[in-house]
Amino acid sequence: MQNGKTFAVTRNPSRRLGLCLGLLAGLAMTVPAQAEEPDISWGGELFAENCSECHMVPHDEAWFKARAQAGKLDGYDSLRTMVQGCATNFGLPWFDEEVDAVTAWMNETYYHFE
Ligand code: HEC
Repeated sequence: MQNGKTFAVTRNPSRRLGLCLGLLAGLAMTVPAQAEEPDISWGGELFAENCSECHMVPHDEAWFKARAQAGKLDGYDSLRTMVQGCATNFGLPWFDEEVDAVTAWMNETYYHFE
């Protein structure tokens, strides 16, 4: 579900249709401020744009797969904390929505926590 936050749309124009549908839904009922499914493909884009400087070479796919297997992170919450930590460390002013999307993308791509 789309909640119609405009910054998401300006960063990802392909979601514009979803925004319109979300606004229509919003007219019919009060949309809660959060607790939506994170947008996994948007998370992948955010990661490529903002995180891949360090996490491509040598921190590429193989690195994350090895890290995931090493089991340093013990669950989805730890992964989210790490995503938030890296984003904060490297000066990205991310909202929860971005952190959630990237966490979901990383989880689907590498970690596979419940
Ligand atoms: C300036 C380089 C740099 C950038 C930019 C960076 N990271 Fe990291 N990241 C690191 C380093 C170094 C580590 C390893 C820390 C350690 O050894 O515990 C790490 C570790 C991680 C881990 C934990 C891996 C594991 O399983 O232990 C995650 C998840 C992560 N980064 C996500 C991100 C995300 C998401 C972004 C973009 C917001 C990002 N990083 C941006 C340098 C970076």
